[in-house]
Amino acid sequence: MLILGIESSCDETGVALVEVLGHSSGQILPPVLLADELHSQIKMHQPYGGVVPELASRDHIRRVLPLLQATLDKACRPIADVDVVAFTQGPGLAGALLVGAGAACALGAALDKPVLGVHHLEGHLLSPFLSADPPQFPFIALLVSGGHTQLMQVDSVGSYKTLGETIDDAAGEAFDKSAKLLGLDYPGGPMLAKLAEAGDPTAYKLPRPLLHSGNLDFSFAGLKTAVLTTVKKVKDANVAEVGDATLTETQIVNLAASTQAAIVECLVKKSLAALAGSDLQRLVVAGGVGANQHLRESLNTECAKRSIRVHYPELRLCTDNGAMIALAAALRIQAGVAVPTKDYSFAVKPRWGL
Ligand code: KG4
Ligand code: ZN
Repeated sequence: MLILGIESSCDETGVALVEVLGHSSGQILPPVLLADELHSQIKMHQPYGGVVPELASRDHIRRVLPLLQATLDKACRPIADVDVVAFTQGPGLAGALLVGAGAACALGAALDKPVLGVHHLEGHLLSPFLSADPPQFPFIALLVSGGHTQLMQVDSVGSYKTLGETIDDAAGEAFDKSAKLLGLDYPGGPMLAKLAEAGDPTAYKLPRPLLHSGNLDFSFAGLKTAVLTTVKKVKDANVAEVGDATLTETQIVNLAASTQAAIVECLVKKSLAALAGSDLQRLVVAGGVGANQHLRESLNTECAKRSIRVHYPELRLCTDNGAMIALAAALRIQAGVAVPTKDYSFAVKPRWGL
């Protein structure tokens, strides 16, 4: 069975083809990624300092069909071979979601093939199943993206229990907003992480909100305020000392490293607490912040001490992509928890809990 996946929930248009191979001697064979294509809108949104929803939707319209053609060409498969068209149904920007859903449902109707709406976060959550070292159920999942930060117990495809989540900003948001305060371009997360490599994580004392709250919730809004206050203090001191507020290179890398250390410590400690509170020895990390090297190194070190295995998606599949949407559809169909439909009414769900 060939599944086409379309992702358009925010600022990336992604298209992918995944093949479901079925069973071999009683074992379910893992779905295989045949080809995928991605277009990032980062450059287009950069002058505005964030995603402009109307521009995002228009760009998805421009990109989706050329990316679909490129994906089919790469996989050397004609469109008629597609059995199911999967699309991100939510959560995300309503207009952006409508483009992917509209394209998917139009294709489904034209090909007389069923469609399947997929939850964007389920795509992230299951994306490590496309890696060379896929996890096994059950596991604890740390889902860290630009819009969500959650710890979950995952027992099987479709069986997810939220153990804790952010009560305000997401981890990716904390990276991006702090980066903005340091004067970095949107989306600042990856740039802040790059600068942090050269900085001293202990240079500035920043809070670790809710670290000792006794539950598995996160909070990053206070950290952002602390970064704002610290940056202001450093700038005031610069004015007093040299008559110029501009942050020096050393100050920027140290602020970046201190901010990253605070975010990562919260994510690592709460993940370890979630694992300790369960009898599970497996952690899956997914979502854009899962690409963060300091997070990966800290989790690897702490989990190795406790004989816990950690699984990540391939680096390029941490951020939004079509492959995770096609894969999530494939796994849901294989597990019998979703049935594609010929209802082509493409209702999207901009707000949708997993
Ligand atoms: O999962 P994703 O692509 O989109 C959402 O579903 O939100 O995550 C994007 C988020 C952004 O906030 C971005 O700054 C962050 O992931 N991100 C990173 C890194 N790469 C992406 N944050 C820290 N370090 C990185 N290397
Ligand atoms: Zn995402």
